[in-house]
Amino acid sequence: MRTAYLRTILTRDDTADLLLRRSLLEDRMPTTQIDDAGARLLSVLMRLLQPRRVVEIGTSFGYASLHIARALPEGGHLVSLETDPRAAAIARRNLAEAGQSSQAEVREEDALAYLETLPETVLDAVFIDGAKEDYPRYLAAAFPKLRSGGLLVADDTLCWVDPDTVFSNAERAGLDRFNQALAQSPSIDLAIANTENGLLIGVKR
Ligand SMILES: C[S@@+](CC[C@H](N)C(=O)[O-])C[C@H]1O[C@@H](n2cnc3c(N)ncnc32)[C@H](O)[C@@H]1O
Repeated sequence: MRTAYLRTILTRDDTADLLLRRSLLEDRMPTTQIDDAGARLLSVLMRLLQPRRVVEIGTSFGYASLHIARALPEGGHLVSLETDPRAAAIARRNLAEAGQSSQAEVREEDALAYLETLPETVLDAVFIDGAKEDYPRYLAAAFPKLRSGGLLVADDTLCWVDPDTVFSNAERAGLDRFNQALAQSPSIDLAIANTENGLLIGVKR
């Protein structure tokens, strides 16, 4: 009911809808992208923060990347990491067609290896959405790279709790450990939005 109502009042996002439909129906990409409420939240958060350097862990076909890239200020830049070459190519095509290639760079690279190359506290925002069992590792690698006041967002932090979802034990354990670590951390102000997938939002102290 709520989702149907929201669809009637929120402005349609034709560019994102087109990208989503084509990548799911024609490219046959998996439906692992951020949900609609999460995408809108991510976009609003980026508009508020006006980050200059953002990293996304897990690009897939670039749906969330599009929402981030469009919300960046002049001079803002997204690096999105994707290990699957086909997904990276599709994301690059999608972002180019949406006119976002200069704001968003898709790198075909392991996110953990990329994060290792960065100096500490250089990032304004990090969006975690890669392999679910690796969320604790992404956190350990990304958190030191985030500046104080920087934004940490992670998708899929709640959907694994529902019994009818298809997460493996390793994925469930990874997501639970990730949530618990942040919930107990004195270094972050935290909220978990009860969106379809569960969007964790934190600001580094
Ligand atoms: C949930 S999908 C990303 C969805 C995307 N963020 C969105 O909302 O549109 C997860 C992606 O992470 C990629 N991935 C998994 N492990 C990774 C890693 N270590 N580094 C980079 N990408 C990774 C997978 O290949 C997959 O395409």
